[in-house]
Amino acid sequence: MIDIIEKIKKLKAEKNAVILAHCYQNVEIDEVADYVGDSLYLSQQAAKTDADIIVFAGVFFMAQTAKILNPAKKVLLPREESGCLMADMINYKQLMEFKSKHPGVPTVCYVNSTAEVKAECDICCTSSNAVKIVESLKVPEILFLPDTYLGKWVEEKLGNVKVTTYPGYCPTHLRIKPDDVTEAREKFPNAKVLAHPECHQSVTKLADYVGSTTGIMKYARESGEKQFIIATEKGVVDRLKRDYPEKEFILIKDNLICPNMKWNTLEDIYNSLMYEQYEIDVEEGLAAKALKCIDRMLEVSK
Ligand code: 13P
Ligand code: SF4
Repeated sequence: MIDIIEKIKKLKAEKNAVILAHCYQNVEIDEVADYVGDSLYLSQQAAKTDADIIVFAGVFFMAQTAKILNPAKKVLLPREESGCLMADMINYKQLMEFKSKHPGVPTVCYVNSTAEVKAECDICCTSSNAVKIVESLKVPEILFLPDTYLGKWVEEKLGNVKVTTYPGYCPTHLRIKPDDVTEAREKFPNAKVLAHPECHQSVTKLADYVGSTTGIMKYARESGEKQFIIATEKGVVDRLKRDYPEKEFILIKDNLICPNMKWNTLEDIYNSLMYEQYEIDVEEGLAAKALKCIDRMLEVSK
């Protein structure tokens, strides 16, 4: 393993490349990553980088967002099949149908969406800034897509904005059921339950804290508590265990993984850099339209 890590680092320096890794990646990817974090953090890093090549250890929409932010750079997704099941739940045609039923209502899309979808939305958001983004619009009503649960959670948090959601969802987070929370609390009565807003509302309403990947990690770091039940993808627990060995982290149910996030191995990262594969391309006109949606988010999130 040390050998491949050194080889990747060497190639990275030779090619002036940067490696961005989402917290749901296999934890060993962190050994070669320049930045590890949630969707917002990684898109902010992608917007700032002066590297020539960006290797995105994440899923397709993340690499595509990085390409839209950096049209002159080479953006690589190490495994072509790394899609996001939620992002694929809405395409251009479905978006148009959704919008046509609610004419004139501002549209907010989760960053977990394709460029075709972003191009037709007013602003995008991630799970860490969704509340702030919707609030910034200062409107009484919005359309939110594709994640119905994140949209409903924002509606509940704000209380004064009607959020009409598209019926998309994350299959990984929807595996978590209210009974899982109840059972985990019975087993670990002193533990705090931390949940991602992609979870069903019947789950988030039972949690002590609801927040994005970074929000959950920050809560665990800053809390004086010692034991936490984590209701999100396993990668977050792996990193929490590594970073805070003095605390205890329990994944709410076994094997809570996003399969598409787990394809990448160190070997794939090496091959990606070595053979400059698989390159992400976005048609210029489409990229320009999608960029407006992403830029508005980055502006509000500064
Ligand atoms: P965050 O990185 O915004 O927490 O989102 C989680 C996710 O599902 C990424 O696809
Ligand atoms: Fe998409 Fe869910 Fe995987 Fe995130 S965890 S990349 S929302 S399928």
